[in-house]
Amino acid sequence: MRYRVTLLEGDGIGPEVTGATREVLAAAGAPIEWERAPAGGEAMERFGEPMPQVTLDSIRRNRLGLKGPLMTPKGGGFRSANVALRQALDLFVGLRPVRTLPNVPGAFPGVDLVLFRENTEDLYAGIEHEVTPGTVVSVKTSTDRAGERIARWAFEYMRYRGRRTVHCCHKANINPLSDGAFLGAFRQVGAEYPYIQQKDIGVDSLSLLLPLDPSQFDVLLLQNLSGDILSDLCAGLAGGLGVVPGANIGTHAAVFEAVHGTAPDIAGQGKANPLAVLLSANMLLEYVGEWKIAKNIEQAVWAVLADGKHLTGDLGGKAGTAEFTQAIIDNLPRSS
Ligand code: NAI
Repeated sequence: MRYRVTLLEGDGIGPEVTGATREVLAAAGAPIEWERAPAGGEAMERFGEPMPQVTLDSIRRNRLGLKGPLMTPKGGGFRSANVALRQALDLFVGLRPVRTLPNVPGAFPGVDLVLFRENTEDLYAGIEHEVTPGTVVSVKTSTDRAGERIARWAFEYMRYRGRRTVHCCHKANINPLSDGAFLGAFRQVGAEYPYIQQKDIGVDSLSLLLPLDPSQFDVLLLQNLSGDILSDLCAGLAGGLGVVPGANIGTHAAVFEAVHGTAPDIAGQGKANPLAVLLSANMLLEYVGEWKIAKNIEQAVWAVLADGKHLTGDLGGKAGTAEFTQAIIDNLPRSS
């Protein structure tokens, strides 16, 4: 079985980190054929938009994508390419596992969290209007359907992965209708999973408790805005965005992506850490059931991090992208 995966190399360090990832996957024997598609700056030049139809069609066809970081111009009327991608393909699950890795500076010990972010609703529906001059209204949307499908995805993931406890995070005391509906959907779907421990918590309490002791949490189910903010906070607990993978998953397609940006300050210098994209590609391998190859890559990454001799600058080392990548390849099992 070979998998055809749409590759969005991305801007800035994107081609460097996705290139390194492809090298490791090839060395590990991952049965993947890449179909390169334009996005970000390249797509702006060729098509006048950062996420063109040809790229969306490629992902729809292959149902799998790997994405490097894309620059989002601030202002200027461009819609974020990342938001456009999620909306066009209805990638309603924002999945971000956050773990403490060896030798990552600033990492909180014992972080092992999985965050599920509802990707399609909340304040991200982009519905805003000016009621009177000086007064604007931004609409926060919440439907039972969206709450139920993300809750079911989280519970199914937990059942499959043997995860024990989920916290549904909300502000139902302030927004009893919208957040109350999200909490209600969680409870309704959760009734089908009595063997999973289910709790709920205010987003403010969660923000207090996470930095005190993240090891007390396991799986977090979040709405769009709080999910966006807290997934970055959790990445910070594990040492920063440069080491955290992510995925946006829908019924018909899944796109795996680095959550860091294009790092324009180091782009083209061979210094970028490819770990976030590589671990995202590993999530893709797990998603399609290539567990053994994913495990081999994970163990090789762990070995290189623990050894500490070939780390990139952001991890406190002196190695460039090529040396770090080669060290991972050298630590793959010989049969790979
Ligand atoms: P950034 O994540 O690109 O950079 C922040 C700092 O982290 C910089 O010092 C950078 O050198 C470093 N860094 C990031 N990734 C790294 C890696 N893999 N290896 C080593 N160092 C790394 O965030 P910034 O500067 O706020 O954004 C730059 C551009 O990226 C903007 O256009 C922004 O819109 C875009 N962006 C795209 C994202 C995506 O496509 N998912 C996410 C975040 C930002």
